[in-house]
Amino acid sequence: MPFQRFCTSATVFFLILSVVSCNKQCSVQNITGSSFTTNTYMNSYVIREEHNSGPKMCIRDCLLQHECNAINYNDNKRCELLITEESDMNSNTAGYYYSSIANWTMNPNQCWPNPCINRQRCIIALYGNHVCVPVDDACATNNPCQYGGSCRNTVEGTRCVCLDGFSGENCEITPCTVHPCGVGSCAINGGTFTCTCPGYYTGNQCQRNPCYNNPCGAGTCTVSGYNFNCACPSFFTGTRCEKNPCANSYCMNGGTCTMSGYSYSCQCSTTHNGDRCQNLIEGDSI
Ligand SMILES: *[C@@H]1O[C@H](CO)[C@@H](O)[C@H](O)[C@H]1NC(C)=O
Ligand SMILES: *[C@@H]1O[C@H](CO)[C@@H](O)[C@H](O)[C@H]1NC(C)=O
Repeated sequence: MPFQRFCTSATVFFLILSVVSCNKQCSVQNITGSSFTTNTYMNSYVIREEHNSGPKMCIRDCLLQHECNAINYNDNKRCELLITEESDMNSNTAGYYYSSIANWTMNPNQCWPNPCINRQRCIIALYGNHVCVPVDDACATNNPCQYGGSCRNTVEGTRCVCLDGFSGENCEITPCTVHPCGVGSCAINGGTFTCTCPGYYTGNQCQRNPCYNNPCGAGTCTVSGYNFNCACPSFFTGTRCEKNPCANSYCMNGGTCTMSGYSYSCQCSTTHNGDRCQNLIEGDSI
């Protein structure tokens, strides 16, 4: 009769105790056959995390974890047992070591080659027995990572690896969180943001108010809500003071109007004079 059938959680606990010390076990188990890639972290699915592990112990636990095909290990003795896929990316990360489980071997025993199925972990038991224990997959049960962050199973529960531009424990801090658009509305656009500005506000962060680049020409601009108001000098009209004195019939009695910048003058006919040619020259009348 298979040993597992008799197994209670108390016995599982004792069985775990019997294998926790790897120093002796790992050399006895003769874990060899491959190596670690330094300064590499594989961004991948983490089945399980272990603290205070040694690198060989990490490899051993991957061999004993059904479906584990690689590990991340770091200088803080943290071991991540991975299920990698072809699309997974490794990054150049100081203090991390990566190894694919292919080519690693250990002395054959009741747990290796691994007899467990369905992502179960094999625990070496006494008298040549083994126990298959399912993993507690917190990420699958309750993934707290927002905005495309990847969930990692940890000893404590879960951890989020955020996409570029996102941060916070659950990747909840987005490029829009700091309100970069001022009066505008912010939309997340990949790892950055795009602003939609109201009215006559412009600029990539809506930082230019409606009077930026003075739209009033000869006039004076004031901001009014998201719009602008122009106060035009005499003889200038239009919402942007674009209609100048010459267009507004400044010169009277056939005088020729000339604009130079925002100043203007009249060249009067022989019969009139004055700024606007408004005066009939005495004695010239019929
Ligand atoms: C460990 O592996 C080496 C190389 O494969 C082998 O020579 C040695 O006998 C092994 N030791 C044990 C205890 O199995
Ligand atoms: C495993 O060993 C084979 C043969 O030496 C080699 O071609 C392959 O690259 C190794 N795989 C890994 C992941 O180290």
